[in-house]
Amino acid sequence: MSTPNASDAGRFRLGGDIDIARLGYGAMRITGPGVWGEPADRGEVLRTLRRLPELGVDFIDTADSYGPGTSETLIAEALAPYPRTLVATKGGLTRPGPDLWRPLGRPEYLRQCVLTSLGRLKLERIDLWQLHRIDPQVPREEQFGVIAAMRQEGLIRHVGLSGVGVEEIVAAQAYFPVASVQNIYNLTTRRYDELVDWCATNDVGFIPWFPLGGGTLVKPGGMLDGVAKAHGASRSQVALAWLLKRSPAILPIPGTSRVAHLEENVAAARIRLSDAEFASLDRAGRQASQTPA
Ligand SMILES: NC(=O)c1ccc[n+]([C@@H]2O[C@H](COP(=O)([O-])OP(=O)(O)OC[C@H]3O[C@@H](n4cnc5c(N)ncnc54)[C@H](OP(=O)(O)O)[C@@H]3O)[C@@H](O)[C@H]2O)c1
Repeated sequence: MSTPNASDAGRFRLGGDIDIARLGYGAMRITGPGVWGEPADRGEVLRTLRRLPELGVDFIDTADSYGPGTSETLIAEALAPYPRTLVATKGGLTRPGPDLWRPLGRPEYLRQCVLTSLGRLKLERIDLWQLHRIDPQVPREEQFGVIAAMRQEGLIRHVGLSGVGVEEIVAAQAYFPVASVQNIYNLTTRRYDELVDWCATNDVGFIPWFPLGGGTLVKPGGMLDGVAKAHGASRSQVALAWLLKRSPAILPIPGTSRVAHLEENVAAARIRLSDAEFASLDRAGRQASQTPA
């Protein structure tokens, strides 16, 4: 069998003018525990990143706050000047310590985020820059305004938002086109189902974070076992295949720090669930999402 390729999932149009494979990669967990500092196995992380273009994965999602700085620095070390890769990053969260995240949307700080990401990533322009969270303590008009200015200046090509609903997307669209939204979403985490459909209708990309439930969704003994067995596939592959079939607006970004898991995840691009398989997983996933943990 030939090497799996992310393009087996089809192509994805981002911001109207960027063409990428419809299966990307999330680079949050290439740091130490608590998304803090250096990873335990730096060599394996660099090998994982260098394997991405070989597998046709040409979209990497990161953020200045992953490490902080570590994820962007490792990506640049492995892949700059990115002949075949688009690196999307985010800003607007500070990191007071491991596992701690605080929004900071003051315009001068958002500008600092973009400028320091450009330096770490060794880029002159960020193709997709995402506001990690809208800071509730700062008027959102100020946050959107400085982003629009940075876009005008050519520091940013396209803008995405994260952790938002329709009302906020529409408010931001008065300042810049919103190319993508990045919210938590997977088979059993369904609070943004309606937003997924809204994005499809309104030509906004939906980038689901936590696509594998951080790894918990793919543990044995769960709802993915039967379909995985029928396809001779792994549970992670079925979770990703379900997302790919859920909506053409969806661009999954499973994260891993290991080459073997990356190869396994990319091979999900070849799996085609039947309508019946999709529907039965969908039902089970909705039910589980309504069950309190
Ligand atoms: N916008 C936001 O607020 C936000 C928040 C969280 C995440 N994100 C983005 O979304 C991306 C994905 O989310 P996520 O990393 O939280 O969760 P995820 O992709 O659902 O899960 C990643 C976890 O699953 C494990 N895993 C990956 N592939 C596997 C496989 N084939 N079999 C078994 N386990 C596997 C990984 O461990 P190994 O390393 O051992 O493979 C890792 O611990 C992040 O990298 C980040 O870019 C964004």
